[in-house]
Amino acid sequence: MKIEKVGVVGCGLMGSGIAEVVAKAEFDVVVCEMNEQFAEAGRNRIDKSLSRAVDKGKLESADRDVVLDRLSFSTDLAALADCDLVIEAIVEDIEAKNELFSTLDGLCGPEAIFASNTSSLTITDMAAATSRPGRVVGLHFFNPVPVMKLVEVVRTIATRDDVFDTAFSFARNLGKQPIAAKDNSGFVVNLLLVPYMLDAIRHLDRGVASVEDIDRAMTLGLGYPMGPFTLSDFVGIDTLCRISEIMFDEYREERYAPPPLLKRMVSMGRYGRKSGQGFYDWSEDPPKPLAL
Ligand code: CAA
Ligand code: NAD
Repeated sequence: MKIEKVGVVGCGLMGSGIAEVVAKAEFDVVVCEMNEQFAEAGRNRIDKSLSRAVDKGKLESADRDVVLDRLSFSTDLAALADCDLVIEAIVEDIEAKNELFSTLDGLCGPEAIFASNTSSLTITDMAAATSRPGRVVGLHFFNPVPVMKLVEVVRTIATRDDVFDTAFSFARNLGKQPIAAKDNSGFVVNLLLVPYMLDAIRHLDRGVASVEDIDRAMTLGLGYPMGPFTLSDFVGIDTLCRISEIMFDEYREERYAPPPLLKRMVSMGRYGRKSGQGFYDWSEDPPKPLAL
């Protein structure tokens, strides 16, 4: 199966990174967002990331322009009609994702492959919302997409072998190192990572140590690139909370349950780095831990 034109739906934190790496790998990319304002914000995020690569001498400025030219932006899903592969990176909500895939099912050609970047929902549920379950896979990228090498390629009990192989080769063509994962909520990485991040919040609430010291402990003690609170702010507090609710609903194990503090932060709009405040105040340099 030949992939030439790729659609990316949702151009937030992850969609912008995915669109960037796909365009860098010389595919034509159509990005679809909810409205002009979000599309513009997504385009700016990609522009900034490419400019950063230029400043660091990792990309020629002429090549940045070529990559940007390969990207087009729309607020109409019909613009994805002739894509060979559509990757969704919209909000972590099964109803929104099912509605999207059901609409795309009626718009795209019968051969088109649909992929989800979900962190915790099951691909099977989305596949069942289409008339092409055999052509639906998971392509789970990691944040920040231009840097992180892993892609989890997820197959359901319905995914066709040739579709899975095409998705796996596609991830390799992006310069990533794919692994095969079964369609269980959290795949491999989040199954292990999410309880760790939630435990850190629970221990913080119990007064074990401060935000800063827990982060310092995990970076200096274990060599992790970021501590759990910096990472939570980086992933997005709203997204982490949704992931936690979904995984708790699936496994009914306490370690996936959303800690009350996490829910309160969502209520207050403290979504992490993307909103300016989470566990840290990101308007300060270095970011300053906030009172919780
Ligand atoms: N976009 C593009 N490039 C970026 C970037 C971004 N947002 N952030 C950093 N980089 C690049 C820098 O340009 C730099 O490149 P060079 O080495 O070539 O100069 C490199 O990454 C390192 O960046 P910095 O020196 O600025 O900072 P750092 O050393 O602290 O690294 C980091 C930044 C790569 C993000 C590192 O802190 C890290 O690996 N953090 C952990 C990230 C992680 O765990 N991600 C997974 C989240 S979970 C997930 O994604 C799954 C889910 O479903 C929730
Ligand atoms: P985000 O909030 O930064 O971006 C989501 C974007 O989708 C927003 O710009 C929103 O306007 C757009 N959107 C929502 N509904 C849409 C629709 N129907 N059509 C078009 N656009 C729509 O979220 P994110 O962090 O980029 O997460 C996106 C997906 O990627 C989620 O499923 C999340 O679980 C997953 N994911 C997130 C991370 C992470 O670290 N944040 C890592 C891996 C996977």
